[in-house]
Amino acid sequence: MTDRYAVFGNPIAHSKSPLIHAEFARQTGQDLSYEAILAPLDGFSAAVRAFRAAGGRGANVTVPFKEQAYELADRRTARAEAAGAVNTLKFDGEVMLGDNTDGVGLVNDLTRNLGVALAGRRILLLGAGGAARGVILPLLDEAPAELFIANRTAAKAVDLAQRFRQAGKIEGGGFDALAGRRFDLVINATAASLAGDLPPLPDAVFAPDARAYDMMYGQDTPFMAFARARGARVADGLGMLVEQAAEAFYLWRGVRPDTASVIARLRAA
Ligand code: ATR
Repeated sequence: MTDRYAVFGNPIAHSKSPLIHAEFARQTGQDLSYEAILAPLDGFSAAVRAFRAAGGRGANVTVPFKEQAYELADRRTARAEAAGAVNTLKFDGEVMLGDNTDGVGLVNDLTRNLGVALAGRRILLLGAGGAARGVILPLLDEAPAELFIANRTAAKAVDLAQRFRQAGKIEGGGFDALAGRRFDLVINATAASLAGDLPPLPDAVFAPDARAYDMMYGQDTPFMAFARARGARVADGLGMLVEQAAEAFYLWRGVRPDTASVIARLRAA
C-alpha cells in the first residue's frame, strides 16, 4: 500500500512541497504519495487527525500552523522544542512526533550548496519572529564567532538572545545597534520582503566577501538588491525549502534524497 503524506497550510495552493517530495520519492524508489491540504484557519488539528485516521503516515506544516503543530505533537525533538514550532509530523503508531527541519535546512543549504562556512564567522540574523527563532540553535551549533539578532522591536531580539544564551555567543538588539558593526553573513528572516520593504540596515553592514541570504524565494527582494549593490553574494531561500523537505523525508523514510538536482529543477522551472 502506498504511504500517504501531506503538507497542511493556509493558503497552500502554491506550495512546492508536493513536487519536491514526488521527486524525492521517484529518485529513491519510495512508494508514497504527497498532497497539499488546505486546513481551515480554525480547523488545523481536526484536519491533521482526519488525515491520520485515513491512513496518513506523516505531514509537513506551514504558515500559519507551525505553533499549533507544536501543541498537537505528543513528543517533540530537541530542535522542535528550541524552535517553539513544528514543521514536520511523523505518525508513529499511537505517537505523533513533532520535529522542526527548517533550521537544519538553512544550515545545509548554506554549508553544502552555497559553500558558506559558518564556524568563526560573524552572523547577523534579521527578525525575531517564528522564522528567526527556528534557525537560531542550528546556526549556533555551527560555532560562529557571534550571532547578532536585530529586530524592529528590539526587546523581542533581546529576549530571544537571552533564551539561547547557553548555546553560544548570541546578542540581540534593534537595527540602530548595527551602526559600526560588520558581518560575514546576513540572513533575512523578517516578513519585510512580503510587504516589499527593506529592513533598515546600515550601508556598511557587509564585511568584505560577505554573503546575504533571504529566506524568501521566488522573487528578488529589496534586501537582496540592497546586499548585491553593496558587494555581497546573494541567495534566496529556495535551497532551504528543498533541504528542509529532505530532512523531513529522511525522518519519515530513513533515506536521504539528492537535493541539488531538485533545486536545479525548481530554479529552471
Ligand atoms: P514569521 O513567523 O514569518 O517570523 P512573525 O512571527 O510575524 O512571522 O515575525 C515577523 C518578523 O518580521 C518580526 O521580526 C517583525 O518585526 P517586529 O517583531 O518588530 O514586528 C519583522 N518585520 C515584519 N515587517 C517588517 C518590516 N517592514 N521591516 C522590518 N521588520 C519587519
